[in-house]
Amino acid sequence: MTHDRITFDGPVILGAGLAGLTAALAAVETGGKALVLSPTLLATGCSSAWAQGGMAAALSDEDAPALHAADTLAAGAGLCDPAAVELLTTEGPAAVRALAALGAPFDRQADGGFVLSLEAAHAKARVARVGGDGAGAAIMAAVVAAVRAAPTIEARENARARRLLQDASGRVVGLIAEIDGVLVEIVAPAVILATGGVGGLYAVTTTPAQVRGEGLGLAALAGAEIADPEFVQFHPTAIDIGKDPAPLATEALRGEGAILRDARGRAFMADYHPARELAPRDVVARAIHAERTAGRGAFLDATAAVGAHFPHEFPAVFAACMAAGIDPRVQPIPVTPAVHYHMGGVATDLDGRTSLGGLLAAGECAATGVHGANRLASNSLLEAAVFGARAGRAARGLVPGGEPLPATPAPDLPDSALQALRQAMSRDAGVIRDADGLTRLVAVLDALEAAQGAAPTLVAAQLIARAALARQESRGGHFRADFPATALPERTFVTLDAALPAGLRYAAE
Ligand code: SIN
Repeated sequence: MTHDRITFDGPVILGAGLAGLTAALAAVETGGKALVLSPTLLATGCSSAWAQGGMAAALSDEDAPALHAADTLAAGAGLCDPAAVELLTTEGPAAVRALAALGAPFDRQADGGFVLSLEAAHAKARVARVGGDGAGAAIMAAVVAAVRAAPTIEARENARARRLLQDASGRVVGLIAEIDGVLVEIVAPAVILATGGVGGLYAVTTTPAQVRGEGLGLAALAGAEIADPEFVQFHPTAIDIGKDPAPLATEALRGEGAILRDARGRAFMADYHPARELAPRDVVARAIHAERTAGRGAFLDATAAVGAHFPHEFPAVFAACMAAGIDPRVQPIPVTPAVHYHMGGVATDLDGRTSLGGLLAAGECAATGVHGANRLASNSLLEAAVFGARAGRAARGLVPGGEPLPATPAPDLPDSALQALRQAMSRDAGVIRDADGLTRLVAVLDALEAAQGAAPTLVAAQLIARAALARQESRGGHFRADFPATALPERTFVTLDAALPAGLRYAAE
């Protein structure tokens, strides 16, 4: 198949969340051009704009990057890359201030300092917020305005990648894009993946449904090294009102003192962890899963902790509840664990470079090593800003590669197949996993692949399922009922060739 070809003299960035747009701004800050491709209007359809929590950084006199780093490493359960964590936490305060300078209206104290909230597994109050639970939308509005005002950033909406183009050496030299329904080859010196996570691969997710591992799948199909795909984070308190995606009840509610109760009103977290509602996110998710599975139900009771303050302190949660006929000022909120974040992704160095020349990755689709087996709350917008900027700067100096080899667009997954995949992923690669379920899941994915071809979304699901089957231990977001103990702290590094069908290659930290 031949397509029209255009040559772009700058990085092409796939995705328009915080990582992608920060990369674009950094790529042009000394001159030069960047092209952003987004399947939706900028900043819609990305998880960044939905973030309620805020940005964690050592912004107060009582805090320090080293303390933030210690909490990040502890949450990561032995699998963080300490150098990446040090960089994230050291550059964090400047990244938050840079977004404030762009116009992000962080909540301020009377003296101008940031209002900082406490979230689970943080030793200090260090989460900078906007309007209570509106950080993501407000930060993205400021960043989108800056991108729209940048004369050398071109943004194409209704545009997505269908295949990475490679030269004879394997270097990435562009992509096949679908723009307004038309296929076109774009040849460029660099491609930056910023396509977000994998929530849409699961039936219950807090992320936009169109975020379903496409960047991960495209990179894997090109032969890029993938790290830790089995580590999926489940947010404990998605609001259980039958909506897809499920609205979030931010962790900050538990930081404010909201209590988890069963349907009879019994507070149950003391049965699971001494830190109760402020236990690590994976512990709380498993506790809620257990209560629900036992038929007792799970509800977040913020009536005493927040009560009448709901409309102005947590307007997004309040609106989602009221739309479903639940008044959280006086009623407990029904909650369920839901896929919220992917710790795994395309393996990168500290500047977003992947194992393939010409290909970089940033944000949730990347695995920089900062999150390990379990991301600390409110570290994701921070990672997107810090590593998005680094990837944008790293892409600036790249020169064009060789002639692209002929390529065809990867297949798409029809909706019926996607829905089957989502059900199977939630059932068998969810909060609690075991060999029987994961083996059944791999069989479902193999059958889908035989029928539909290697669609990037399906490839992403295969990587998660097969790595989860191979990891015979429990750690962070990955819990195996048949291997509940923790084994040696080893990250997964895998390529698609190694993962399918012969098994996974493990590499020690
Ligand atoms: C939340 O507000 O609970 C989510 C924050 C995060 O996932 O970082």
